[in-house]
Amino acid sequence: MPKRIAIIPGDGIGPEVIGVAERVLAKVVHSFRAPLVWTRFDWGAEKYLREGVTLPEGAIEMLRRDYDAILIGALGDPRVPSNQHAADILLGIRFGLDLFVNQRPVKLLDARLCPLKSVTEKDVDFVVFRENTEGAYAGVGGNFKRDTPDEIAVQEDVNTRKGVERILVHAFEFAVQHGRKKVCMSDKSNAMPYGHGLWQRAFSDVRKRYPQIEARHLYVDTLAMEIIRNPSQFEVIVTCNLFGDILSDLAAALLGGLGAAPSANLNPGRVSMFEPVHGSAPGIAGKNQANPMAAILTTGMMLENLGFPEASSRIETVVREAIHQNVATADFGGTLATREVGDWICERLEEDIC
Ligand SMILES: NC(=O)c1ccc[n+]([C@@H]2O[C@H](COP(=O)([O-])OP(=O)(O)OC[C@H]3O[C@@H](n4cnc5c(N)ncnc54)[C@H](O)[C@@H]3O)[C@@H](O)[C@H]2O)c1
Repeated sequence: MPKRIAIIPGDGIGPEVIGVAERVLAKVVHSFRAPLVWTRFDWGAEKYLREGVTLPEGAIEMLRRDYDAILIGALGDPRVPSNQHAADILLGIRFGLDLFVNQRPVKLLDARLCPLKSVTEKDVDFVVFRENTEGAYAGVGGNFKRDTPDEIAVQEDVNTRKGVERILVHAFEFAVQHGRKKVCMSDKSNAMPYGHGLWQRAFSDVRKRYPQIEARHLYVDTLAMEIIRNPSQFEVIVTCNLFGDILSDLAAALLGGLGAAPSANLNPGRVSMFEPVHGSAPGIAGKNQANPMAAILTTGMMLENLGFPEASSRIETVVREAIHQNVATADFGGTLATREVGDWICERLEEDIC
């Protein structure tokens, strides 16, 4: 049975970078004899403005039933200031499919891209696991006396024992399976004793099951400082939804920016969603200037998840070669267009045919 992929190019630069990712997929089918089929879905701002539809009715059931993975570009369009369509589609899929793991690898592909002094590729190679369905993004709260001087806004931070424990277990399991020796859990339990006290207690229980792993805790403010001061001390970081969102963008800066930052939203063993960390970058959309490497590396993460690790590691090697040879868009110091970078990478993958 071929693996079935639902592709949602989305808005802004999404269709441009996902267009390149689709060509990479076609090369993988050819070069690695990988049985993959995919279908495009036009969900995004254009459809919302035209038809008033964000995530179509029955979409979650259809994705769960008919697909093995979802590859998404980015969502966000200045013509939809409320960002309603993006929230419905992205959060709808994350919550609807219970994609509780947000995995963001932070791997420096070329030391020249790192803004830190005297840092080499081997100094920046860690993974951030962000809880993806709870916390401050659970959407629990409301406004009272809205738009009056007495307005009150409440945004709850929701932490369940089940939700916290499963992301902690996932981070430790990942460490064991990938030969990593250190897991750092981060919270703000000194200032948020109820919600993050739960993280502390769950962490204290889960770490006992993995005596071979060096388990450590850092408050999130200290962790932010330590990631910049000495990134080589980290192998696996696990944290809540809000802190993970912020820290993984901070960490992306160590790689040279969002141009090469991939991510996965996982429910292990079930249909999962893969997306570059960057947004729709409206300022450069339609100009053939977007860096396609994040989307290509994201495609590699998806292929590994679908059971094609050789294709995934080959994609990473080719992207690394491209950066070393300055086959890159302007954000990485190159002079090439999105499509030209894609052409070069696809040609290198073509050469792999045995
Ligand atoms: N997962 C998502 O779909 C997602 C994530 C973040 C932001 N957004 C949305 O995207 C829109 C723009 O948000 P933003 O500007 O805060 O973030 P952004 O990631 O779109 O852009 C931030 C900066 O990085 C640059 N950039 C981003 N991706 C790039 C790439 N591949 N190549 C070269 N440069 C790149 C942009 O030009 C911009 O200067 C908003 O509507 C926002 O809500 C969506």
